[in-house]
Amino acid sequence: MTLAEKIGQLHQAPRENDIDPEVIKSGSLGSVICSTSAYAGNETQLRVRAGRINELQRLAVEGSRLGIPLLIARDVIHGHRTVAPIPLGQSASWSPEHIQACAEAAAMEAYADGIRWVFTPMLDVARDARWGRIAEGMGEDPYLCGVLAKAAVKGYQGDNLSAVGKVAACAKHFVGYGAAEGGRDYNTTEITPNTLRNIYLPSFKAAVEAGVATIMSSFNEIGGVPVTGSKYLLDKVLRDDWNFEGVIISDWGAVLEMVEHGFALDKREAARIAINAGLDIDMAAEAYLEWLEDLVAKGEVSTDRLDAAVLRVLNLKFKLGLFENPYTDETHADKVQFTAEKKAATLELTRRSLVLLRNEDEVLPLKKDLKKIGLFGPMIDSRSELLGTWCLDGLPEDVITIEEGIRAQLGSDQELITAKLTDEAVNLARFCDVAIVVVGEHPHRSGEANSITTLDLPPGQTEFLKYVQRIGVPVVVVILAARPISISPDLHGIDAFLVGWHPGSMGGQAIAEALFGVFNPSGKLTVTFPRSVGQVPIYYNHKATGRPLDENKIGLTRYVDDRDAPLYPFGFGLSYAAYEYGATSVASSGDGFEVKATVKNVSSVDGEEIVQLYIRDRHASMTRPVRELKGFQRVSLPAGSAQEVVFHLSRADLGFYGSDETWIVEPGIFQFWIAPDSISGQMAEATLAG
Ligand code: BGC
Repeated sequence: MTLAEKIGQLHQAPRENDIDPEVIKSGSLGSVICSTSAYAGNETQLRVRAGRINELQRLAVEGSRLGIPLLIARDVIHGHRTVAPIPLGQSASWSPEHIQACAEAAAMEAYADGIRWVFTPMLDVARDARWGRIAEGMGEDPYLCGVLAKAAVKGYQGDNLSAVGKVAACAKHFVGYGAAEGGRDYNTTEITPNTLRNIYLPSFKAAVEAGVATIMSSFNEIGGVPVTGSKYLLDKVLRDDWNFEGVIISDWGAVLEMVEHGFALDKREAARIAINAGLDIDMAAEAYLEWLEDLVAKGEVSTDRLDAAVLRVLNLKFKLGLFENPYTDETHADKVQFTAEKKAATLELTRRSLVLLRNEDEVLPLKKDLKKIGLFGPMIDSRSELLGTWCLDGLPEDVITIEEGIRAQLGSDQELITAKLTDEAVNLARFCDVAIVVVGEHPHRSGEANSITTLDLPPGQTEFLKYVQRIGVPVVVVILAARPISISPDLHGIDAFLVGWHPGSMGGQAIAEALFGVFNPSGKLTVTFPRSVGQVPIYYNHKATGRPLDENKIGLTRYVDDRDAPLYPFGFGLSYAAYEYGATSVASSGDGFEVKATVKNVSSVDGEEIVQLYIRDRHASMTRPVRELKGFQRVSLPAGSAQEVVFHLSRADLGFYGSDETWIVEPGIFQFWIAPDSISGQMAEATLAG
């Protein structure tokens, strides 16, 4: 390969429709991101079609000197044509199997359009709901993010990347992007080595262990060094510590952004810093394209460094089978997209993503004898709004609206009364037996570059709900949102809250089925819901401080003007069943512990409960969180039944990254809870011997 051909493999260009054929034929383009802009998640995109991809591929394979195929990439974030809930909603299912099934479906649909590389899963732990991209992640817990990351990677990639329907995944945004100061997207982060290793890195490590093919470096800097130019994070952590052999790509234009950061003088220096830090592909900045030749010629980038990066890219293309099979069957998409099977897999995940936060007097599920059901709010017949941020290929016409979903559940003697306008709704609600009010955010209030300063419902909605609440009919609120919402104290009279997130193509059906009790909701929050934005950042696995939180005493860590507890804690979610947790017991087992508790369904309704195991390392050489999730099980509990739920923790499971950034296990006292959420459960204690 000539130097220019090598550099071509490290260059990724956007906008598949604008690419100059001569550039491909010259061999100076290795991959393409199908996206019309840097904010693709916020904009309607042209659909990617296999025909166009084949045209580009033909130019590379048949028109260029070496015939190296292009690698075609796209942001396939939560589904492709069949759209699953936003990832934050998916994570509320705590269901790796269903997440894997939807990743498999998305991979097959994307593959049929010619895509071989998807920029997902997004593994940024986020503790600040102002950050719009909290929607795209799997919540605030590093362990849960890691488990779900593995499932997603398996779903996209399978065991053999060259199989039909398998694509390369990309763990992003490496790393710390979710810690943006003030929750403002792209902002500076300050993360201590201890927090980096114990909180922000583990989900990426899990993805590497699952064999993720690629990793994307994030836009942010950490403590003065942009990640895209961090030799420590790319070369040392990813390559040396974790033996990651896949491709590292920058986020869109991030190489050049190092100039704005004030870390590189100009594009040339940015290219030099990035490649020498270990970054293989430059997405959209053209810094490698313009400057690598000169940098290599002048000895500022070694040939070894360049060749290693090129080899990793070529290796990925070989693994994907692109050399043997570069083209896409143009008839495939119609056969595999939005099929009954894919809709069924998506519906299963969507059902499990719904979280019931309140259900006073068992207003839900809706009773059969309710004659007049009111359905109100601005989004009752929305389609594209249900698809959520980063939905590039889902079609609004495929979406089942909430109204359609509800109509499908009505008995012949039940009437549905609907209104979108607030005054009309308030007027009509008084004639109903129950009012279902659908509120929430537009997807453009979430996602990339869409951070906010309040976690209240969007303007007017709380007031609207206050009026409906005053009428005296039972009120059930469905919240469509991409982040935790602080439900105002003014709404404490509302009978039920169901969080539907941005639920995707099957959302209307799943939400209606939950309301009518076709299935029993089992989702649990994977982010803390604050009382108000003033509590942010708030997360369950915080440290104790020397003056631990106690709301009833003064002089301790507390707020003066509000309660300190969150509105709803991590792990929380109700069911139409009711469960009782027995005492947690712990006994030595192998080199670690067996922890168990009996969970009983004390209701007359069958249910599934997500049983959670938390620990606290009571004293250690570095302070540890007040609770850490260490395991969970989805347990099926028929009405009146009980089950002993058993967890095994090995000695190694009880460790953490210590002051020298390596995993250590320290003997001493540990506390254990088997609990329905991160603040309940009965504690048991045991000592880990030295
Ligand atoms: C986003 C990434 C995305 C990339 C390509 C960036 O703006 O941060 O998540 O994969 O664009 O569209």
